[in-house]
Amino acid sequence: MAATVKHALVRAAAKARRNAAARYSRFKVGAALLTKQGEVVTGANVESASYGLTCCAERVALFSALAGGRKNFVAMAVVARMPGGPTPCGACRQLLAEYAPEATVWSADSGALKVVREFSVKALLPAAFLKVPKH
Ligand code: THU
Repeated sequence: MAATVKHALVRAAAKARRNAAARYSRFKVGAALLTKQGEVVTGANVESASYGLTCCAERVALFSALAGGRKNFVAMAVVARMPGGPTPCGACRQLLAEYAPEATVWSADSGALKVVREFSVKALLPAAFLKVPKH
């Protein structure tokens, strides 16, 4: 994919990160999802005092996009303040494998947005469980 598309999506994730509701961990994460049609849907992590209810930026972006009727996701950018940028947790990998199996994931440190690591969803979750068998 074009470098300009990649950097624009990383910047969108960095902007979305500003809206993170991360009052417990103070670890702000932003995500931006790109559809085949060129639409961008963003998300940021939302934390709860009941810690387990927290939702990662990646799933917030994905759920928002799906709930808005979007599909055919080609890429997701994720940004946080950490060396090399964040990579999606196991729960997010599962949802990405189900709803964005062909997507590329770009990851960047919010302090170095031009340095972007690239992964495929397939590489992030090999041998994924993708559907419940009929019985
Ligand atoms: N978090 C994300 O939003 N995405 C990631 O890829 C890693 C973790 C959030 C969840 C929680 O709000 C905080 O970061 C600390 O784990």
